[in-house]
Amino acid sequence: MNNNKPLAFSTRAIHSGYDAYDNEGALNPPVYMTSTFCFENVEQGAARFAGEEAGHFYSRISNPTQALLETRLADLEEGEACLATASGMGAITAAMWSLLSPGDKVVADMTLYGCTYAFFQHGLKKFGIEVEFVDCTNADAVANALTPNTKVVYFESPVNPNMRIMDIAHLSKLAHDYNPDITVVVDNTYCTPALQRPLTMGADLVVHSATKYLGGHGDLIAGAVIGKQDLITHIRVFGLKDMTGAVIAPLTAFLVLRGIKTLELRMERHCSSAQKIAERLQQHPALESIYYPGLKDDPYHELSMRQMKAPGGMIAMELKGGFTAGVEFMNKLQMIKRAVSLGDAETLCQHPASMTHATYTQEERASYGISEGLVRLSIGLEAVDDILADIEQALAG
Ligand SMILES: Cc1ncc(COP(=O)(O)O)c(C=O)c1O
Repeated sequence: MNNNKPLAFSTRAIHSGYDAYDNEGALNPPVYMTSTFCFENVEQGAARFAGEEAGHFYSRISNPTQALLETRLADLEEGEACLATASGMGAITAAMWSLLSPGDKVVADMTLYGCTYAFFQHGLKKFGIEVEFVDCTNADAVANALTPNTKVVYFESPVNPNMRIMDIAHLSKLAHDYNPDITVVVDNTYCTPALQRPLTMGADLVVHSATKYLGGHGDLIAGAVIGKQDLITHIRVFGLKDMTGAVIAPLTAFLVLRGIKTLELRMERHCSSAQKIAERLQQHPALESIYYPGLKDDPYHELSMRQMKAPGGMIAMELKGGFTAGVEFMNKLQMIKRAVSLGDAETLCQHPASMTHATYTQEERASYGISEGLVRLSIGLEAVDDILADIEQALAG
């Protein structure tokens, strides 16, 4: 552009890293359905394997469609580089295997997506890595957990499923003041870079389940990790190439790119509908509590206003009558789908204690703040009054 003004988020979400005129005029990027890449000669092959010459050589390590998605996501998260993976768990595991060795320690928030928790609690610990789960909303608890062998501080914000929010800047500073080599990892799945950019607040790595809002249409599984170039290269050539092999398929990378084009627009609608629904349900007699940071009396309201552009599209609510009431509510839903996952066009409702967070024992859920009666709503793109009407009829006795 002529005026040197930086392009806005929504413009970069559509154009960053791709020029149609370099690609036969194709408005949409080609999908490189190839497993391998041919070398001009042996010397070129050797140079690519040694990392001395840029270029693709095998699609478990990189592919041009994947590379475009990575350029775009790195740009949107304001990071140097990105690695796109086959799933969110593929991103998290590739990053952790690359960062940790036996004897190292991870300080993690006590409430995580269920499979992340299972990986930390049952996977990492099995390989001699210490994991301490603390309440990361309490900076003193994090400070007390840091030890000389701590290599990673890991949390989500907002947290899946109970919508607690971490002070990303404060926790990043606290960890780095203790030891600048600690890697602070933030799962930004709930927000996406349209609402929150943890790297600009001092975090070192962002991980995503791109299955959710980034893809946006419930038709793919994908993930990503974004951060400094050296670290991302290490995660690619060790964590991905040698440890997990969880490479994103070229067609999936294309679909995530397509989803990202409408990300900002979709997030605006998810957020405005969630805000309206939370406000309307706030005083509902069937609810014990409702967790949504857009509500003025939510304990995380102020913090969310500081670090997020908008409070997001996820709502958690506790029904009076606990587990049974939660199950009854879910079974009465008509338009809203009973399904895990989130960030889709369809409004989805799930029960963490019996679904996504069944990886925690009942005792662990009780001590880590995931109550048995909690239901989680991912507010979709349908007309907000239709979503509300379905929730209200299911709440009616
Ligand atoms: C916050 C969060 N992080 C990570 C994941 C894992 O992502 P995936 O299912 O794409 O492997 C999920 C999945 O639900 C999630 O909600």
